[in-house]
Amino acid sequence: MTPLKSIVMRSPAKINIFLESHGKRPDGFHNLETVMLRTQLCDTIQYSLNTQNCATLRLAADAATVPPGHFPLDNSNLILRAASALRQFCGVQAGVDIVATKRIPAEAGLAGGSSNAATTLLALNKLWQLQLSTKVLHEIAATLGSDVNFLISGYRAAVCRGRGEQVQPVPVTGRIHFVACRPFQGNSTAKVFGALRELPAIQRVHSVLNALRIGRPQQLETHTYNALASTACGENEQMAQLLKVMTTLYRRPAFMSGSGSTCFVYARGHREASVISRSMHSVTGFPTWHLWC
Ligand code: C5P
Repeated sequence: MTPLKSIVMRSPAKINIFLESHGKRPDGFHNLETVMLRTQLCDTIQYSLNTQNCATLRLAADAATVPPGHFPLDNSNLILRAASALRQFCGVQAGVDIVATKRIPAEAGLAGGSSNAATTLLALNKLWQLQLSTKVLHEIAATLGSDVNFLISGYRAAVCRGRGEQVQPVPVTGRIHFVACRPFQGNSTAKVFGALRELPAIQRVHSVLNALRIGRPQQLETHTYNALASTACGENEQMAQLLKVMTTLYRRPAFMSGSGSTCFVYARGHREASVISRSMHSVTGFPTWHLWC
C-alpha cells in the first residue's frame, strides 16, 4: 500500500450533560464523574508530511474569525503538544505541516483544544505509520488533558471518571438536540476549578444514564447537572445573565457545559432547535449553535 502523504480529519466538540465533583486530589486535580456526548460541531485539520523533521501549525485562510489569542500557534497549542508527545515517545524523524480550520470556540467547555489533541494523535499515528495500539494512544492522551481520552475513544457518549480520563461508553437511544450559546467572555478551566468550594457530592449519574439509554429528552433535562455552574457564574457575570435569559425565554432549564462558558438548553427536535437557535442569537448577539449527538 502506498504510504499516505496527507490526511484530513474532523475534530468534534463534546458537551457535558452531567458533571459531579468528588473532591480535590493530592495532585491538585478533582475526581470527577461526568457524562460527555460527542457532537456534530467539528474543526477540520489537515496533516501533510514534510521533509523538515519538524511540526508546523497554521490556521486555514478562512480562519480570520478566530479571535486573537484563542488559537496560539506556538508550543502551547495542544496540537503541537500532541505531535511532540508522539515524536518523543516513538523517536520519530518525520515532520508534518498542520492546517486547522477552527469552528469550536475556545474557553467554551466544548473541549476544542482537547479534541484537536486527540485528532492529532489519531492522525499522526496513521501518517507517520507508528502503529501504536489504542492502549498506548490512551496513555499519551492522558498526559495531554483530562478530556482527550473521551475524544480519542470515538464513543458517541461516555461516563468519564478519575480526572476524566477513565472512559466508559454508554448507550444512547435516538438523537439529542441542543441549542448552545457562548457569551463573549470565556472561562478558564483552571480558574473555575480553582474557585470551586469543596461540597459533598450530591448528584448521582444513574438517572442521566438511564434517560440516555431509553431516549427520554424530558427526563434528561430533569437530571442534567453541573457542579461547576454556580462557581462559574461567580466568575462570569455575562454567562450568569445568559443562563437566566435562556431559562426565561424558553421556559426550560438552561445548563453549562464543562467549565463553561457555553450554556445550552435541550430542544424537542430539529425544527424547534433551529427556531430557538435563531431567536437566541438575535436576542443575545452571542454565537449560537444547534448541536446534536
Ligand atoms: O486536564 P486539563 O488540562 O483539561 O485541565 C485544566 C485544569 O482544570 C487543570 O489544570 C486543573 O486545574 C483543572 N482540572 C481539575 N480537575 C479535573 C480536570 C481539570 O481540577 N478533573
